[in-house]
Amino acid sequence: MIRLSGVSYTYPHGERPAIKNISLGINGNEFIAIMGRNGSGKSTLARLLNGLLLPGQGDVSVDGLSSSRPENLLPIRKKVGLLFPDPDSQLLANLVEEEVAFGPENLGLEPAEIRNRVDTALKMVSMEDYIKYPPYLLSGGQKQRICMASLLAMQPDYLILDEPFSMLDPRGRKDLLTLFKKMREQQGIALVLITHSLEEAMQAERIIIVDNGQIHTIGTPADIMTMGAQLTQVGIEPLEISNFIGELNRNPGVKIPADITDIESLVDILCPSS
Ligand SMILES: Nc1ncnc2c1ncn2[C@@H]1O[C@H](COP(=O)(O)OP(=O)(O)O)[C@@H](O)[C@H]1O
Ligand SMILES: [Mg+2]
Repeated sequence: MIRLSGVSYTYPHGERPAIKNISLGINGNEFIAIMGRNGSGKSTLARLLNGLLLPGQGDVSVDGLSSSRPENLLPIRKKVGLLFPDPDSQLLANLVEEEVAFGPENLGLEPAEIRNRVDTALKMVSMEDYIKYPPYLLSGGQKQRICMASLLAMQPDYLILDEPFSMLDPRGRKDLLTLFKKMREQQGIALVLITHSLEEAMQAERIIIVDNGQIHTIGTPADIMTMGAQLTQVGIEPLEISNFIGELNRNPGVKIPADITDIESLVDILCPSS
């Protein structure tokens, strides 16, 4: 598990702490979503989780390894894969296959194993046809897929995905989220998804709302979706269906429960068939 105890972090030239006194445990097989307005501290939190940033106060540990000990940083970064929102900052190689092989090569694996991991990872993100392409010729969404393949080829135990779908179309988002969920079920990895989409976050077991560098709320998807006006206050767009139910409930005598998430259930309430 990843454990944060009283973690605070201020950037070298930052005026205020970007993360303030966060304590949190992330289990080895959980799917957790992190939400919050721009600048609330989500990406800083992500970088603290894999030892890329070290806390100013408090402690971060991954499976018992504290990031405060320099000898633990390499094992932590092997265990915790972090995908950044901006693919261009991560793509360094001349060819897609070199890009994806880079991590496994650094792990010192055998060439056959590297080949196997590269092919498997590219297939997982449906980019196997682009193996000989230079990354700069790809679209933003395709670049995001290559970054995901690079991460998957490292076979981490925890996947931290920082707004991974921003350049993908709705279909691509759905397919890749399904892929990550399947990996979690089949390989027992933990998934931490930073997203602006409440619809995506609803698929997690827990949702954490970060505001102003602190944990504002931790709850189940049902807890979070029924927060009503409070959601907008922390920069989160309510689900479309919640807005719709809110409108319907303005009518006298109408009282539809706020925690309905799908159209079918709503139709059943509005038009009972028997
Ligand atoms: N490299 C940096 N140097 C100084 N301040 C930073 C840096 N990166 C982020 N910050 C500040 O830290 C706070 C949290 O930023 P960030 O973690 O990127 O939020 P989010 O990912 O939720 O948008 C913001 O106030 C931001 O301006
Ligand atoms: Mg961010």
